[in-house]
Amino acid sequence: MQKYSLTTRIIHWLSALIIFFMFISGWYMVELDYYSPWYNRLPELHYAVGMVLMFVWLVKIIRLLTGYQKRLSPPVKPFERILSQLTQSLFYVFVIGLVITGYLMMTADGQPKILFKTINLPSLTQFSGPVVDTMGWVHEYGAYLLMLFVALHIIGAVKHHFVDKDDTLKRIL
Ligand code: HEM
Repeated sequence: MQKYSLTTRIIHWLSALIIFFMFISGWYMVELDYYSPWYNRLPELHYAVGMVLMFVWLVKIIRLLTGYQKRLSPPVKPFERILSQLTQSLFYVFVIGLVITGYLMMTADGQPKILFKTINLPSLTQFSGPVVDTMGWVHEYGAYLLMLFVALHIIGAVKHHFVDKDDTLKRIL
């Protein structure tokens, strides 16, 4: 069995961990009470880990475009291949969309964002309240849709492992 390269496997599982954290932290932070000790800390973590995700996916996209991230094709039915390629392509759309809307919302007041009193993230442009609200809506529903595709992706991997009993899951482990 040919496994994915170590770099591809690290990027895959690191992305899975970060995306899971991003969803839980985002969901939780907007509900926090002003007096909670996490009121400022959790959004800062959401933004900082989001920057790590941006960096990891920049590397991922560069590897994809330069042919370093190869796709191994197990003997699957044509419709399964189309479904998995569609799901995985949508990951790029949603992750890139969430990073862009997240960054623009975070710095929408025109001020640079300083995380943990050290990391300085510049504001690219200023946005009015209604535009920020629209971006917030896109970001929120984008995150829900991303989770839906992640669930489909996991169901596919589990089916390959336990029903078809092929090496699809083992290749990425
Ligand atoms: C896979 C990536 C991401 C996921 C899954 C995600 C998820 C979420 C979720 C679920 C929310 C709560 C939405 C709501 O209920 O209103 C949220 C809010 C937010 N996220 Fe993200 N996010 C991601 C990336 C980012 C990035 C990269 C940034 C910034 C650099 C960011 C900045 C924000 C901001 C500013 C909010 C709004 C907070 C507020 O309304 O006070 N997000 N995110």
